[in-house]
Amino acid sequence: MRQSSLVVVANRLPIDDSVAPDGACEWRRSPGGLVSALHPLLRQTPATWVGWAGGTGPAPSLADVDGVRMHTVPLTAEDVRDHYEGFANATLWPLYHDAVEQPVYHRRWWEAYQRVNRRFAEAAADAAEPGAVVWVQDYHLQLVPGLLRELRPDLRIGFFLHVPFPPPELFMQLPRRAELLRGMLGADLIGFQRAQAAHNFAQLVAHVLDVPADDRRIALDGREVRIGAFPVSIDTTEMAALATRPDVVARAARLRRDLGDPTHVILSVDRMDYTKGIEQRLKAYSELIADGHVKVRDTVLVQVAVPSRERVAQYQVLRDRVEREVGRINGEFGRVGEPAIHYLTQPFDRAELAALYRMADIMAVTPLRDGMNLVAKEYVAARVDDTGALLLSEFAGSAAELPEAFLVNPHDLDGLKLTLMDALQADPADLTGRMRAMRAHLSRHDIHAWARSYLAALDSSGSLLTRVTTPG
Ligand code: ADP
Ligand code: F6P
Repeated sequence: MRQSSLVVVANRLPIDDSVAPDGACEWRRSPGGLVSALHPLLRQTPATWVGWAGGTGPAPSLADVDGVRMHTVPLTAEDVRDHYEGFANATLWPLYHDAVEQPVYHRRWWEAYQRVNRRFAEAAADAAEPGAVVWVQDYHLQLVPGLLRELRPDLRIGFFLHVPFPPPELFMQLPRRAELLRGMLGADLIGFQRAQAAHNFAQLVAHVLDVPADDRRIALDGREVRIGAFPVSIDTTEMAALATRPDVVARAARLRRDLGDPTHVILSVDRMDYTKGIEQRLKAYSELIADGHVKVRDTVLVQVAVPSRERVAQYQVLRDRVEREVGRINGEFGRVGEPAIHYLTQPFDRAELAALYRMADIMAVTPLRDGMNLVAKEYVAARVDDTGALLLSEFAGSAAELPEAFLVNPHDLDGLKLTLMDALQADPADLTGRMRAMRAHLSRHDIHAWARSYLAALDSSGSLLTRVTTPG
């Protein structure tokens, strides 16, 4: 087996099981922040990505993609049900997002979580050369750092949590809270999106494990585990370049014409997830139409909501509710050829997304809680002419970095309506000032800066760093 000096371990491979039968594959990004964040980084170094290919049964053998080895971890139907759909996405996901939906606890799911985490740890141990850096990603795999350290004490192990880490009063609900904390502590460096998350973690470690911990360092079993905030970002240059491509500019103009050349286009792009505040947004929009503040002919909302985790009950309920509401709003306020909301559930390629971002005067991003929200950053990066307004929930991690956005509390319906109107009526010079400031921030804090800062902290020798963070 070929081994690598950098191994990324994530629940999903960056490709899915719809890869062509002849074996030909390309980076096919499943909609989601993790793949978008790591894709530019891994193209730059010989590395292995350990992950699940998306199906069930024996692991398919996949060709390298852009020089990155695909090491597939097989999951059975039971693993998918109890680990991915169960413990990861019906226990941890709602709990870590302020319990906006009720987290569900089942002992069988915990068994599956342990079993699957062990399988990922063994795969990572096989794929890593002596002394390699192994970077474990996200809430699906919180036990992997600890398991991997037992198998391979020679490795540098990093763990990065892409989602929020909750306050102690929520985390304390978890029946197996001590084991989860211990699993993460197998890492040399634990990265979070926000300093508040690192603080929550340190408090929990001190309280649950009775181990001395501050917001930077935890001393455990004769080792030092460092913790800190490393806000993830996007490939700003790539998005700006896409948004400048003549075919993308032409496509944006075409999309706008197809919408009937309205005065304002509002865009939202989400995974269909109850954390994203889609229902709050639709309610605010429909009330603005009903109040007469927004005229359907002048203003159009384009809502992209790609289905996600479709076998998890709360996601099915959400999709039904969203689709019923979109139907109601269009039925009530639309006219023939003039719907109030253009609703799309399809995955788009990057160029089409860039065209959508370029077309939209206002990007509405209203999550109830979000680790980061890369869509908000992608919109800013695509506004190469410094126009456009970003309406952004204060509960998205990105709000801390983009204070020039129109910040909103999505639970406050009146506030949401007022801020949306402020954005619609803003002075263009004000918008330019805000957008310029946000774009300046993202040009410095892009995906390369994120990787550089995380890997510099993890890999003290720095040898890996020079290879993976020089923009190609
Ligand atoms: P999350 O990680 O919760 O999915 P983010 O906003 O951080 O949310 O990341 C979502 C990523 O998925 C972004 O990179 C975005 O471009 C991508 N994405 C969202 N919707 C689509 C879609 N319909 N087609 C393709 N990519 C999408
Ligand atoms: O950001 C959280 C996350 O789970 C990412 O790891 C992933 O890219 C995205 O949401 C999509 O979720 P899923 O892998 O469940 O389709």
